[in-house]
Amino acid sequence: MVPIVEVKGARIPAIGLGTMTLKGDVCVEAVNAALKMGYRHLDTAVFYGNEAEVGEGIRKSGVSRDEIFLTTKVPHSDLAPGDFEASVEGSLKRLGLPHVDLLLIHWPNPDIPPPVYIPALCKAKRSGQTRHIGVANFTISLLEEAEALADEPIVNNQIETHPFVDHRTILAYCKGRGISVTGYCPLGRGRIPGNAVLERIAKTHGKTEAQIALRFLVQEGVVPIPRTATPEKLKANLDIFGFMLADSEMTDIRRLAEPEGRIVKPPQSPKWDS
Ligand SMILES: NC(=O)c1ccc[n+]([C@@H]2O[C@H](COP(=O)([O-])OP(=O)(O)OC[C@H]3O[C@@H](n4cnc5c(N)ncnc54)[C@H](OP(=O)(O)O)[C@@H]3O)[C@@H](O)[C@H]2O)c1
Repeated sequence: MVPIVEVKGARIPAIGLGTMTLKGDVCVEAVNAALKMGYRHLDTAVFYGNEAEVGEGIRKSGVSRDEIFLTTKVPHSDLAPGDFEASVEGSLKRLGLPHVDLLLIHWPNPDIPPPVYIPALCKAKRSGQTRHIGVANFTISLLEEAEALADEPIVNNQIETHPFVDHRTILAYCKGRGISVTGYCPLGRGRIPGNAVLERIAKTHGKTEAQIALRFLVQEGVVPIPRTATPEKLKANLDIFGFMLADSEMTDIRRLAEPEGRIVKPPQSPKWDS
């Protein structure tokens, strides 16, 4: 059983399956296999072009919908009135479901400020299209603005977190506000294996470097959503709850953060908190 992170009424399984780049049957089978082996948290988005396959994988697994925590996202290009509602309706239609568990704003948009779309996000919750609402790639100032505008709780901020990026400032802020943090690119998109520090710690615990990187995030209070369609890796990524990293090991991993360690840098990126 995967532990649960509980915030503001949301019960989020402490690890999820990322699905970006997973397409067609590969995506259906990855979701099906993940759910059958115990995953209960799935992350998709309009942008990934695989919501239909994620829905199909859920149905194929036979796992009860009530047991699954499913996230999708509204793209930054669809935040204007009308576009927002059409985006959410399109997601639910493709997924073949009446609601998701978490609806996120995928990226802030420098040309469409939060007052334009935060009321629509809250309305999506009240209308039952999502159980909870949140944001992704939001900085402290954007979160402050979003929370001031929202009349429903913002339960989550999904951000890039892995050992090579410094997430301390935004993480401390979210913790202070009771906002859970989902960590994307938790394996640095494949950069983790081969790192000497992670390798040394992995040997100590009889684990892989990827498992150490995921465990590090869990102990930082982050919910990682690693992506893979390979059954062995799916299984390994789930097997991170039976051991603890020592404080000294956590410190050694935190020291791997680099000023230029961020991987995802699209043009709509906000000015990140230092
Ligand atoms: N909100 C956002 O803006 C945003 C941005 C980016 C991503 N995301 C979400 O976050 C998820 C994860 O990020 P990501 O997909 O970019 O990168 P990631 O999960 O950090 O890395 C994926 C890579 O790690 C490899 N991998 C997985 N498990 C492994 C293991 N146990 N051992 C060794 N290698 C392993 C995979 O290899 P194989 O493919 O060979 O299995 C793949 O190449 C996405 O899928 C998406 O759902 C959100």
